[in-house]
Amino acid sequence: MFRKLLFPTDFSDTSRKAQTYVKQLRGAGTEEVIVLHVVDQRDVDALGKATGLSQDVQQQAENAAREEMTAVERDLKQAGLLVEKILAVGRPIREILDLAEREKVSLIVLGSHGRSNFSDIILGSTSENVIRHSRVPVLVVSRETVPG
Ligand SMILES: Nc1ncnc2c1ncn2[C@@H]1O[C@H](COP(=O)(O)OP(=O)(O)OP(=O)(O)O)[C@@H](O)[C@H]1O
Ligand SMILES: [Mg+2]
Repeated sequence: MFRKLLFPTDFSDTSRKAQTYVKQLRGAGTEEVIVLHVVDQRDVDALGKATGLSQDVQQQAENAAREEMTAVERDLKQAGLLVEKILAVGRPIREILDLAEREKVSLIVLGSHGRSNFSDIILGSTSENVIRHSRVPVLVVSRETVPG
């Protein structure tokens, strides 16, 4: 069950919590993990407009993400998982849902919140929309979770 899953991450604290559950799923039959990070086009556009350096902004975001992804890959490989990394630029929700279909994953694992992590918001907009539209089950790891 859940042989191949999709783990979208923004490298936030809550997505790190989700990552510990991805590793634990190895013991429940998961063999392969696709790690996806999406450089949000809207952030690039906003910061690019403010600084007038949109290409630099995008390049920097991609470089930082590549480094983070390599660390995530190492962590998941150590848990005995087969890992594929994908770095995309666009709208996170769209990219997550499209990739889940394309790669025919049987589960999506993500955090309840991400980088924004507003205290009075029950669910971030990425996780909300993934739950709303995904055709496969979604494991949402709450920011309150204490991994055991
Ligand atoms: N750019 C992204 N690329 C890949 N995965 C992401 C991205 N953004 C969020 N996620 C995944 O979705 C989870 C929930 O993040 P979400 O963006 O919904 O919360 P938020 O940042 O607190 O709120 P919002 O983005 O609505 O302001 C994260 O823990 C992560 O697993
Ligand atoms: Mg977010």
